[in-house]
Order: sequence, then C-alpha cells, then structure tokens
Amino acid sequence: MTEYSMHPLISADRIASRVRELGQRISRDYQGQTLCIIGVLKGSVIFLADLIRAIEVPCEIEFIGVSSYEGMHSTGHVRINYDLSVDIEGKHVLLVEDIIDTGHTIDYLIKTLEVRAPKSLKVACLLSKPEAHQIKLDIDYTGFEISKEFVIGYGLDLDGLYRNLPDLMQMLPKS
Ligand code: IMP
Ligand code: MG
Repeated sequence: MTEYSMHPLISADRIASRVRELGQRISRDYQGQTLCIIGVLKGSVIFLADLIRAIEVPCEIEFIGVSSYEGMHSTGHVRINYDLSVDIEGKHVLLVEDIIDTGHTIDYLIKTLEVRAPKSLKVACLLSKPEAHQIKLDIDYTGFEISKEFVIGYGLDLDGLYRNLPDLMQMLPKS
C-alpha cells in the first residue's frame, strides 16, 4: 500500500485574505439583496464560517449533506444524506463547497437545487482541481486552483479526520 505524508500547501493567513476577497466580491455582486447561503456538509463548514463574516449583505444559512467519497477516492455516486430545512423557491442561493474535484457532487447539487426554483443559484468553492474535472463547470467564486493531489485541513478530511488543521496540507506519496 502507498504511504503518504503531509506537506504544507496554503497557510491559514493566505486562506484568510483570499476568503476576505471573495466575501467582498460576493457583497458587491448581491448589493441590496438577501442571500440564502447553503453549506455542503461537512467539508465547507470552516470556509463558510469565515466567508459569511466577510459578507455584508443579509443572509440566512442552511446546510445540505452529501456523500461521495471513500478514503481518498470519489465513488462517483452522490447522494443527499441531510436536506435543507427551508424552501429556496424565489431566493438568491449561494452554494458553498469546500472543493471541486471530479465535479460530480456540485453538478448533482446544482441540478437538484435548480428543480426547487431559486431566483438565482451560484457556487462558491474554496478549492478547485481543474485537472480532475470530469464535467464542464461554471463556478462563480473560486478561492484557489490546485493540482490533483489529495488535500486536508481547514474543513477538509481524510476518513473524517484532520478537518481542524488551520492550514491546508497536501498528501503526497512517500518516496
Ligand atoms: P467531486 O464530486 O469529485 O467533485 O468531489 C467533491 C467532494 O469530494 C468534495 O466536496 C470533498 O468533500 C471531497 N473531496 C474531493 N477532493 C478532496 C480532497 O482533496 N480532500 C478532501 N476531500 C476531497
Ligand atoms: Mg464536500
């Protein structure tokens, strides 16, 4: 079995300043409107907690839970295991995701939420792995584009652990 070790990728300071920039852009884009922010559980919670404090328009917070990953690999099968507690019809919805890898999760969520007739639906992700995308996606707000390697920290997990690391770390095979 391949052994992996952790390497620093993006520091907490760099994340904080990028998240502030995204919050400012979102605040400008939604000026005069009210937002319904939907965090994708569980990976987005830390990003969402920081992002909402950088957003200056009124917003409600909701969560949706999905699962598609086992260990370091996407199963490709997405399912909802925790649904919204409100109706999003007629609302400006901003979906907040930790990372877009193959794109199957966000594609599934966009299609699922569009059926519920929001007034608008945009996506903010902290990280995106363009080389891994299997679906052509139009993401409105992206924090950082990174390479295909598995990452942990700042909300992202490996089998449920490491979400509490303040920095983003990359898992690289030991040579
Ligand atoms: P996708 O459906 O392949 O785009 O995968 C999206 C989901 O898989 C994300 O919401 C994450 O929860 C998880 N994921 C993908 N890549 C990573 C990673 O590098 N670290 C931790 N979780 C990941
Ligand atoms: Mg996720």
